[in-house]
Amino acid sequence: MARSDGLYDLLKRLTEAFGISGYEDEVRGVIVEELRGAADKVWVDRLGNVIAYKKGSGGGLRVLWDAHMDEIGFFVRYIDDKGFIYLSPVGGWWDPIVLGQRVRILTDSGSLVYGVVGSKPPHLLKQEEREKVVPLDRLFVDIGASSREEVEKLGIHVGSPVDLDRETIRLQGDRVTGKAMDDRAGVAAIIEAFKSLDGQEADVYLVAAVQEEVGLKGARVAAYSLSPDIGLAVDVTTANDVPGAEPKEQVARVGGGPALTVADGRASSGLITHPKLLRLLEAAAREAGIPYQLSILPGGTTDGAVIALTREGVPTATISIPTRYIHSPVEVLSLSDVEYTARLLVEATKRLTREWYEREIGSRH
Ligand code: CO
Ligand code: ZN
Repeated sequence: MARSDGLYDLLKRLTEAFGISGYEDEVRGVIVEELRGAADKVWVDRLGNVIAYKKGSGGGLRVLWDAHMDEIGFFVRYIDDKGFIYLSPVGGWWDPIVLGQRVRILTDSGSLVYGVVGSKPPHLLKQEEREKVVPLDRLFVDIGASSREEVEKLGIHVGSPVDLDRETIRLQGDRVTGKAMDDRAGVAAIIEAFKSLDGQEADVYLVAAVQEEVGLKGARVAAYSLSPDIGLAVDVTTANDVPGAEPKEQVARVGGGPALTVADGRASSGLITHPKLLRLLEAAAREAGIPYQLSILPGGTTDGAVIALTREGVPTATISIPTRYIHSPVEVLSLSDVEYTARLLVEATKRLTREWYEREIGSRH
């Protein structure tokens, strides 16, 4: 229990930190602090990715672990005369999630200003309007101000970043809920795994990537600069083990262990996990007694898709943490799935030897 309490504390700190795509400073600070002392070297690249390096015992195989630190959010798009603030989405929102939320606006001085997302009151809507979802462009943030000047004086202007105000808490059993589990749960897993690495042959590069939610951007440049031999991306995946989803629509189940993605995305946008690497992950899980599931995600993809296409190609796999209500403030996952994901990373990486690589993948030309 002690171990998962530590993991919960880390996940809580990561998820509650501010860090929408492109404005990841606060969460980056938490990550750098966690990794100092656990790595041979930690640095931040020009786009803001955190990279931590741990030297292996020999062979020189370069293994990249990735999870993204950014979360979806908003920018201030417009402030009206009365001090109401309109939003532009950053990443993929489902509009009905947004109404009624409490949000935080990051000001120029770095402080957070709280507000609530309101709309025209339902009592004033016509019958046919009440039956429709209110689109994001008709929602506004009320920070309690009465004029545009009052808002601007706080250091809020067009482009100020906005996230959801949401505390992470425990539910029953080992379930937790909060915002930004996508993908701070992945970040927690790779940090946890990195700290427990011991005696592996390969050199490990941990990447906590920026700007995944707006096009897999941080991972693309990090993979280019690190030029890895193998990529292991950790992200959350849809768990539709909920009412209304048919068993045949299932992608993954919360509490069933990490989901090894066989394929995701559509056509050119996704990743087909390298079959040799998939087999190694399955063997590692079986031998270490780690439960796992195989999953196919028909839409959406992860950083793994761009890591795989770096330079002359990088055999890559995606390990996913099953998560309910993704891209909402009430994402739900199981702490043991995060823990098992961390263990699987370590077990798989132990098996990524130069000898395995040359036998299964081939040497580099
Ligand atoms: Co996402
Ligand atoms: Zn994600």
